[in-house]
Formats: sequence, C-alpha cells, structure tokens
Amino acid sequence: MTIVIRPETPADQAAIHDITKRAFAPMEYADGDEQDLIDRFRDAGALAISLVAELDGIVVGQVTFTKAFAADGSSGYYALGPVAVEPELQGQHIGSKLIEAGLAMLRERDAAGCVLTGDPAYYSRFGFRAFPDLCPEGEPAEYFQLLPLRVPEPDSVIAFHPLFHGAA
Ligand SMILES: CC(C)(COP(=O)(O)OP(=O)(O)OC[C@H]1O[C@@H](n2cnc3c(N)ncnc32)[C@H](O)[C@@H]1OP(=O)(O)O)[C@@H](O)C(=O)NCCC(=O)NCCS
Repeated sequence: MTIVIRPETPADQAAIHDITKRAFAPMEYADGDEQDLIDRFRDAGALAISLVAELDGIVVGQVTFTKAFAADGSSGYYALGPVAVEPELQGQHIGSKLIEAGLAMLRERDAAGCVLTGDPAYYSRFGFRAFPDLCPEGEPAEYFQLLPLRVPEPDSVIAFHPLFHGAA
C-alpha cells in the first residue's frame, strides 16, 4: 500500500469534507461539525497546513493545522486538528503519516510548538504531552496536549483559533 502525502488542492475539498464527516460520525467525543470547521478555516484563509493522504489517486485522509495564540504574545504556535482517515482504512498508519508530515513542516517553519485536544494514548507517540497549566479556558485539560518544538518549556496559555468556537 503506497500512501502519498501532499498539500490539499481545490479538487480535494469535497473528499476532505466527506471523509471527515464519516470518520467522526461514530465518535462519541465528536462535535459533529468537524467537516464544516475545515471549510470555515479554508474560507477564512486560516488553514495553515492541510495535507491529504492519497491511495491509488484517491484521497483517503486529511490533517489540518491552524495557528494558535500564546497569551504572552509570543508567536509560532500551531494547533493540530481535525485529522481523519477513511473509516475502512483506519489503523494502517495513514493518520500517523499525515501527522508526521505536518509536524515535519512545522519544524521546517521553526514553529514554537503545536497544541491539540485529543486522546493522549494516541498523540503521545508523536511527542505530545500534557500541559494542563497552558490549557485555555473552556478546553478539557485532561485532553489538552503540547508538542514543544523551538520553545522547550512554554509557560503561557495557548489558545486555539477563534473559529474553533464559531467566531471569526
Ligand atoms: C485518529 C485517526 C486519524 C488515526 O488515523 P489511523 O490511520 O487510523 O491511525 P494510525 O494507523 O496511524 O494509528 C497508529 C497507531 O495508533 C493506534 N491508534 C489509533 N487511534 C488510537 C486511539 N484513539 N487511541 C490509541 N491508539 C490509537 C493504532 O491502533 C495504531 O497502533 P499500532 O501502531 O500499535 O499499530 C483515525 O483513526 C480517525 O480518522 N479517527 C476518527 C476521527 C478522529 O477521531 N480523529 C481524531 C480526533 S482527536
């Protein structure tokens, strides 16, 4: 199985929406609007990185990175998510390839760090770890994680893009 990871193009948008919707549908933690969120980010020019995974020319997964915002004004933070893989193809490391490719791009950009909310059992393999003191208000501290990059020990709360909460 040869998976190609590449930046999204306009032709991928419908597939990204569809895969994300179906991948999150059975998840009890899903908000149900993950697919719309990606569209909102794109429309607002807020998709910092969007990579797709292609299998035999067909898009089978996608990962989104947006800018995140340190309360002390320091720059270079990003947030990972949503990430989704075609349900029938999950558990075959496609998600890992997407995430690793995105994190490699963040390192090339000399990013300060990357935050997310998600299952620590999954994201710890990429180096994400709990930073409950940096968790923004309203987010679940037990799922908030940070991968330090240029800044080894950030000490400021790091907020997600306001569009995560529906605001521009
Ligand atoms: C999460 C998701 C993107 C991961 O992609 P994937 O291609 O299925 O995952 P991978 O095959 O790369 O996973 C690699 C490993 O993590 C494990 N894993 C996957 N999801 C996991 C989870 N939630 N918790 C713990 N381990 C997990 C896999 O079993 C695999 O283990 P192995 O290396 O021992 O074989 C995909 O499962 C998905 O689309 N899920 C539905 C949407 C979703 O929940 N997105 C993330 C929200 S935070």
